[in-house]
Amino acid sequence: MSTVLMNGVFIPREEAKVDIEDRGYQFGDGIYEVIRVYNGKMFTAKEHFERLQASCEKINIPISFTVDNLTVLLEELIKRNALHNGIIYMQFTRGTSPRNHAFPTKEIAPTFVAYTKELNRPVTNLSNGVTAITVEDIRWFRCDIKSLNLLGNIMAKQKAAEAGCFESIQYRDLTVTEGSSSNIWVVKDQVIRTHEANQYILNGITRQKIVEICQKQGMEVKEEAFSIEDLIDADEVFLSSTTSEVTPIITINNVPVATGEVGEITRRLQDYFKEEIIAQCGELE
Ligand code: PDD
Repeated sequence: MSTVLMNGVFIPREEAKVDIEDRGYQFGDGIYEVIRVYNGKMFTAKEHFERLQASCEKINIPISFTVDNLTVLLEELIKRNALHNGIIYMQFTRGTSPRNHAFPTKEIAPTFVAYTKELNRPVTNLSNGVTAITVEDIRWFRCDIKSLNLLGNIMAKQKAAEAGCFESIQYRDLTVTEGSSSNIWVVKDQVIRTHEANQYILNGITRQKIVEICQKQGMEVKEEAFSIEDLIDADEVFLSSTTSEVTPIITINNVPVATGEVGEITRRLQDYFKEEIIAQCGELE
């Protein structure tokens, strides 16, 4: 039986219940984070906590937990569930109040839930790459907030699933924004590019780590939007996320990316990224 953390208290999963008028349940009025755990240790936890706080501030959800509080609580959750490799999912909603679109005028406590899930590194996808399709980005203009409102994202992911593909690469007008649950990268003539961090994408923690790695390793990286044409014409394409790390994309809309082989720069970034994981969490199997 697994343990979950609910409003600061550890309880059995079966006992964790949400009120029908919780605003997260009714409106998607809340935010979330997914943190990777390797060898029982959280990877880039501080960055995830900072983004969580930023998301809360952007939609005016007051949270009383500090980064230190959260670290202690989540480390305890990992221990109680004997989590070795997996994720922590956590979310804050605005709380429970009689249904009304506007924020409650009375002060209410946010609802906080965190639980763990076992998940191994996606070694086959990392090694062989995955397939993708392109879809129109129908989401709102505040994709920088890691909001619980994921309808646009799940509609996009469902299209990929129906096409037998792993991911949907979204575009607005002719500009590539991001994947349904990942950031998208292209490599052309040794230059690595991903959409700039603004309101059209979620500034992935994995994305930020990759930018840092490129700068440290002297690899040319540009945070600027690129077009669908650049995507189709790229030497290499890959996606990044907490669960997928640096995953090569080898076909888009059934057409191979360049030769259809995983590219050399993607491989190098995978290796450097793995070194970062090892440095924080210890040797990987
Ligand atoms: N998704 N863009 C979107 C829309 C995402 O949902 C995610 C992550 C990312 C990558 O962010 P990060 O590197 O911080 O994981 C980009 C998570 C994993 C999810 O929803 O499960």
